[in-house]
Amino acid sequence: MASSSSTILAGSCLLCFFFFSFSEADRDLLVGGKPDSWQIPSSKSDHLNNWSQKARFVIGDSLVWNYDGTKDSVLLVNKKDYVTCNTSSPIEAHNDGNTKIKLDHSGPYYFISGAQGHCEKGQKLLVVVISERHTRKFISPAPSPAEEFLQGPAVAPTSSASGFKGSLFMVALGAVLFWGLF
Ligand SMILES: *[C@@H]1O[C@H](CO)[C@@H](O)[C@H](O)[C@H]1NC(C)=O
Ligand SMILES: *[C@@H]1O[C@H](CO)[C@@H](O)[C@H](O)[C@H]1NC(C)=O
Repeated sequence: MASSSSTILAGSCLLCFFFFSFSEADRDLLVGGKPDSWQIPSSKSDHLNNWSQKARFVIGDSLVWNYDGTKDSVLLVNKKDYVTCNTSSPIEAHNDGNTKIKLDHSGPYYFISGAQGHCEKGQKLLVVVISERHTRKFISPAPSPAEEFLQGPAVAPTSSASGFKGSLFMVALGAVLFWGLF
C-alpha cells in the first residue's frame, strides 16, 4: 500500500519535473528575424506577415523592432486601422528606434508603420499569439520549420535559467516527499 502510493507520488513528481523543465523561457523575437526588417517590403515574399505566419508566438514573448527612429515608427493599432492604414489614433506609438513590446495576452496584434505612406506599401505586421504556453511541446510531435526558424540566431532567450531553477526545486521537493515515506 505504502509503496504503491509512494510510487504514484514519485511518478507525479517526475511529471512535475518534466512540466517545469519544458516550460518556455520568455523570448525576445526580432521582428522579421533579422535587423532592419521594419521597412517597406521589397517583394511579396519579403512581407513581414510571411515571417509571422511561419513563426509561433506565445504569451510572454516580446517583439523587438530595430529601425531608424528619426524616419520610422511602430504603431499598435486595431484591426480596422490596420486594414485601412489609418495612423491617426494608434493604441500605442513608438519611435525610439529600438522598440520592445511584450505579448501579454493571446489573440491578434496589429502593427503598422507610422511613416507617411509606408503602411499602404505593405509595411505592416500581424502577429497572432496562442494562449497555451505548452501547446507546442505536448501536441506538436516534431518542431516545425518555423520552430527552427524561431530558435535560430535571431532569437535571444532572456531567462533560460528560470525553467532550470523550477526543475531543481521540483526535484528537491520530490526527494523530500519520497524519502519522507520510508
Ligand atoms: C511567402 O514567401 C514565399 C517564398 O518565400 C512566397 O512563395 C509566398 O507567396 C509568400 N507569402 C506571402 C503571403 O507573401
Ligand atoms: C482614421 O481614424 C480616425 C479615428 O478613428 C477617424 O476619425 C478618421 O476618419 C479615420 N481616417 C480615415 C481616412 O479613415
